[in-house]
Amino acid sequence: MTSNFPVVRPRRLRTSSSLRDLVAETQLDVRHLIAPLFVREGISEPQPIASLPGVMQHTRASLLEEVRHLADLGVRAMILFGVPASKDPQGSEAWNPNGIAQLALRDLADAVGDRMVIMSDLCVDEYTDHGHCGILDGPAGDPRTSVDNDATLDIYGRIAVAQANAGAAMVAPSGMMDGQVGAIRAALDNAGHRNVGILAYSAKYASGLYGPFRDAVDCAIRGGGDRKAYQQDWRNAREALVEVEADLAEGADMVMVKPALAYLDIIAKVRASVNVPLAAYHVSGEYSMLKAAAANGWIDHDVVATEHLTAIKRAGADVILTYLTRWFAEANA
Ligand code: PBG
Repeated sequence: MTSNFPVVRPRRLRTSSSLRDLVAETQLDVRHLIAPLFVREGISEPQPIASLPGVMQHTRASLLEEVRHLADLGVRAMILFGVPASKDPQGSEAWNPNGIAQLALRDLADAVGDRMVIMSDLCVDEYTDHGHCGILDGPAGDPRTSVDNDATLDIYGRIAVAQANAGAAMVAPSGMMDGQVGAIRAALDNAGHRNVGILAYSAKYASGLYGPFRDAVDCAIRGGGDRKAYQQDWRNAREALVEVEADLAEGADMVMVKPALAYLDIIAKVRASVNVPLAAYHVSGEYSMLKAAAANGWIDHDVVATEHLTAIKRAGADVILTYLTRWFAEANA
């Protein structure tokens, strides 16, 4: 390799922080973060989540307070997860108009719907007694039992309509059933919700990094087991494009890669192949690893948090779902 040193000196552009700011290729902006928030039925005080330091299971009232605070800081979007008091095999609380998520969505739409995008996660794992993301085709716990894809689609359609009726501006199907975006689009359109958007969890991997989230919503699969029969295998990258193309053909408005940091190659690949907005989910385990190492004094929280979020954007994500949203918004207020 020939070098034109000393004529070419890349360090010249790093000599001052103003110059570094001027030429920075990637910008983090609070307007591009989405705050994941939990609301739990049957509690009178917000409950901390041990494995997600700083994140709460909210009451309806404390959720409203949190979201107003985020809106005041310039955050433009949040995504809601409901934790019901009772679960059943179908997850029927997920489409009950008086279920906890629907009541909370109504509160949010009324209070901040004019200045924030109210998004709703659309799945049943928080609502089913077995913990899977759909209806089972056999007895729970039997190794031959799987999730019945097409029966689950009917339920997803019902949930989408319940969430849209409650005021969600976008629904975000996270169950990785084939055909889920199309089924939800049809259900929303039939109910007159033509402008309710779909943020599709398109390339969602069967990751070990969802552990703290499963504490937050109590959705560990009963009797063990995993979600590998519907979530993606982390050995596959091209397959993510198959999933993304399918979701776009079915009417997804935005697509998502999840998790984020171990999947930056997937984010970059998807970015290069689609022209819709791309989201990445910086998931619970990614957040918890950062918090745990920082709590031990092993890494500097603010530096690494900024580095991680910037890396996700640099890889090609337009928006990031992250539990760091409040921290970032407060730090940059
Ligand atoms: C499924 C869902 C999960 C997450 C978001 N939606 C859990 C799972 O698939 O097991 C994980 C989010 C996180 O870890 O932060 N409804």
